[in-house]
Amino acid sequence: MERILLIGSGGREHALAKALAASESCEKLWVAPGNPGIAREVECVPLNVADHVAVEKFCLRNDVTLVVIGPEQPLAEGLADSLRAENIDVFGPSQAAAQLETSKGFSKDFMRRHHVPTAPYRRFDASHHDEARGYVEAHNLPVVIKYDGLAAGKGVVVATTHEQALEAVDIMYKGAFGNDGVVIEGFLNGAEASVFALCDGRDFVVLAPAQDHKRIGDGDTGKNTGGMGAYAPAPIVTPSVMESVSEKIIRRVIDGMAAEGMPFIGCLFCGLMIDGEDVNVVEFNVRFGDPETQAVMSVLDADVAALFASAARGSIDAATIRSTHVGFACNVVLASRGYPDAFEKGLPITGIDEAEADPYVTVYHAGTRMKDDTLVTNGGRVLGVTAIGDTLAQAVARSYAACEKISYDTKVHRSDIAKRAL
Ligand code: AMP
Ligand code: GLY
Repeated sequence: MERILLIGSGGREHALAKALAASESCEKLWVAPGNPGIAREVECVPLNVADHVAVEKFCLRNDVTLVVIGPEQPLAEGLADSLRAENIDVFGPSQAAAQLETSKGFSKDFMRRHHVPTAPYRRFDASHHDEARGYVEAHNLPVVIKYDGLAAGKGVVVATTHEQALEAVDIMYKGAFGNDGVVIEGFLNGAEASVFALCDGRDFVVLAPAQDHKRIGDGDTGKNTGGMGAYAPAPIVTPSVMESVSEKIIRRVIDGMAAEGMPFIGCLFCGLMIDGEDVNVVEFNVRFGDPETQAVMSVLDADVAALFASAARGSIDAATIRSTHVGFACNVVLASRGYPDAFEKGLPITGIDEAEADPYVTVYHAGTRMKDDTLVTNGGRVLGVTAIGDTLAQAVARSYAACEKISYDTKVHRSDIAKRAL
């Protein structure tokens, strides 16, 4: 039986917490720091996760057998390494392996070395601003400019004119996100999908493919966000596409990382561009996606605690999965008007219990907070209203019916989640 500490506080962690808590192999679960929705179900602990010693002490004091790390920041800061040094099992990659997400340049160079299909690119370091400008000026359009470090989802510009491209390069070289240079790459056509591979350093299993909706507005218009809704399984990832993702992408990454001395343990998030049978990697993340996880976990039938523990210990046990997808799930994000720019916080939220009166609906908390005894908004993405169904249409209809029951002054959401797949 596992005694598990889950790190994080978003909608993704709420979904992971629910799945772990429901696992046959989970004896006890803590979440640090968690959020008000998670706190209704499991014990939250106010640990400062940047303080590795504090996390280690908590684990040793409470006989924690497994730590699951949700967000990228603690992975980038080497929390998994610190815990492993104390012989604590961790589902989450080392700081070195996390470079697949923390450095776009590392990730692109790695893909080139290991023949993983991706858009052609050039990498320019902090001292090559003029060369980067010259390169985009001569590049055909559209051209994609990416900041070469963590930028909270804001470091990518798809430029359709050379002026836009030059402006993006200049902003990144002015230190908008730091001083890590840029990657400039060719534009990929197609539809995006997210595939999560759970890895033990040598082997992997894939979960149901999902599709996120990154733009703020209906019809994929407006600014990029962290994700405004998701559904799973995404039919665009056909069995034959999934086979090429497994063979040409995930297998090559796992083998390549092991061969380079950075075995990948944790969730490898493959951000894909799919054009018919043609699949390319847009990006890797080294953790579960948010909001895809809320959908993917909703259709997964597995002993998730045993699954993550087996991966963390180097021998992933696919038999812990009864089915990667039972029916369909749709997650609609309720956001704060103004997001992804400035928005108001602290507005009272009502109607969650009414929404969850439907047994097929779960409301995951993301940006919420308790203000005395009242639940209030506390972020750009506030709630993830998720429903399951026998068909995708049924899941979508149930989510949107539940969204109507929830109220707060600045409530906004997209009205076309999963529309393209229907
Ligand atoms: P990334 O952070 O690398 O996933 O990029 C953010 C978003 O920009 C992606 O989800 C895509 O919508 C878009 N994007 C990134 N790279 C490309 C590319 N090479 N071609 C087309 N769109 C891209
Ligand atoms: N939904 C995209 C991400 O988690 O990065």
